[in-house]
Amino acid sequence: MANHHEVRRNMEPIDEYIKISGLYKTYVTPNGPLEVLKGIDLTVRKGEIFGIIGFSGAGKSTLVRCINRLEKADAGSIKVGGVEMLSLSKKELLQKRKKIGMIFQTFNLFEARNVYRNIAYPLEISGVPRKEIKRRVLETAELVGLSDKLKDYPGGLSGGQKQRVAIARALINKPKVLLLDEPMGALDSFSRADIQDKLLELHKENETTMILVTHDVDEAIYLSDRIVIMTPRPGKISEIMDINLPHPRHRGGTDFLYLRRTILEKLHLVSALPEPEYII
Ligand SMILES: Nc1ncnc2c1ncn2[C@@H]1O[C@H](COP(=O)(O)OP(=O)(O)OP(=O)(O)O)[C@@H](O)[C@H]1O
Ligand SMILES: [Mg+2]
Repeated sequence: MANHHEVRRNMEPIDEYIKISGLYKTYVTPNGPLEVLKGIDLTVRKGEIFGIIGFSGAGKSTLVRCINRLEKADAGSIKVGGVEMLSLSKKELLQKRKKIGMIFQTFNLFEARNVYRNIAYPLEISGVPRKEIKRRVLETAELVGLSDKLKDYPGGLSGGQKQRVAIARALINKPKVLLLDEPMGALDSFSRADIQDKLLELHKENETTMILVTHDVDEAIYLSDRIVIMTPRPGKISEIMDINLPHPRHRGGTDFLYLRRTILEKLHLVSALPEPEYII
């Protein structure tokens, strides 16, 4: 029933929680205009993990940065929970952003703040009382396994630990939407698998709607409910692929490998011809 009410309140069907229509973005560069997004249409359902994969320069970061208006779109519409992001005032935007967590391709941590104060940052700037900040930072740090690192500074952390700080900071406001821009890009494959499972756990608990940008096909299949491929110059998106595999997904499973091959074919990274089954 709760879902039903939500549909009514927002006057938007629940399966169009994030709705991007006709989105255009051109950068002005010294070499002339660079058309990066050309009429992107995309709908993300409430509570789903929506994967976007594509080559470097396809416009993936630009697209997610347009969603929370870190980047200004030239034309189009971006609705999040029924609210048009592109027509929000500055004040309304700050309010809305509290419900949209972002994890950046680079960690973007504050080097001069310790882990505690990095995680606390979004609460500090919105004037949350100190006691409440403490309670929530401790709770979130525990969630991502950072409880014993709160006094450390980013300079002394491993890549995986830094990424956990970025995740904790993105989660501190209990966002309804998480924008993840290659969150595991800088991690080794062991930390990566660990954080992927952590994200799935958090997703299951909170039913956060996630947009996951990645260039790692396996990661996209392991985490996503649906996947699109973004092709560059100008950035366009392919048809949507449903990933109907139950969790936990087995990276070596037949269905998994089939999907992997299908996506690699679409990316033209493997030929569509059958390859010999064994090489060694
Ligand atoms: N602020 C900017 N000014 C000018 N050009 C930009 C700017 N930001 C991005 N671009 C250009 O826009 C294109 C898309 O960039 P974007 O960062 O969105 O790609 P991406 O798909 O995220 O790539 P990657 O996988 O390498 O992160 C690139 O050609 C990039 O050089
Ligand atoms: Mg990027």
